[in-house]
Amino acid sequence: MNNNEGPEVLIAEEDIRKRVAAFADQISRDYAGKGKLVLVGVLKGAFILLADLSRRLTIPHRVEFIAVSSYGKSSVSTGAVRLIMDLREDIDNKHVLIVEDIVDTGHTLHYLLSLLKARSPASLRTCALVRKSERAQIDVSIDYLGFDVPDVWVVGYGLDYAEQYRTLPYIGILHPREEAKHTPTPGDGC
Ligand code: IMP
Ligand code: MG
Repeated sequence: MNNNEGPEVLIAEEDIRKRVAAFADQISRDYAGKGKLVLVGVLKGAFILLADLSRRLTIPHRVEFIAVSSYGKSSVSTGAVRLIMDLREDIDNKHVLIVEDIVDTGHTLHYLLSLLKARSPASLRTCALVRKSERAQIDVSIDYLGFDVPDVWVVGYGLDYAEQYRTLPYIGILHPREEAKHTPTPGDGC
């Protein structure tokens, strides 16, 4: 599926749906009988993945959000991660799964892992739909990974470029030509 208007399809809607269903099955098996899992969605990009994943889980869980910013005013990571909004609930002795849209340099996930690890969860794991492995600067472990993508700017299924394209049902590649059509309003890179 592609259309003449939108970004070129990299990962089709159906492939995302199958992968998220597979995550949900795996996570439901891995955490069965362990009490209530805490899903920590990283705003803003993970909101769609979190919504789809949480509705497919067959185990008791609760949903929390955290917001960080890593990119400042450009689409190039500075490596400096800021906490914009913290969790509302304590996670000590809880099984926690961080749900991220994309792991690029790895700085954001690395920051979140050390932040949350310090709060003594019973366990702490990570789930990311997409990883740009060529761009890794820090080695972070992703326990549930959807897809590896090349070093391109991807949008859709929660991922944005200057707050656009988040609601595309597929993951597409934003080519420089299309970027040029939009004035890159400073975003938080969330
Ligand atoms: P990292 O700290 O470099 O791993 O960056 C992670 C964050 O940057 C992600 O959570 C996204 O919010 C954002 N990001 C990185 N690459 C992309 C992309 O290709 N499209 C949209 N957002 C991205
Ligand atoms: Mg993100």
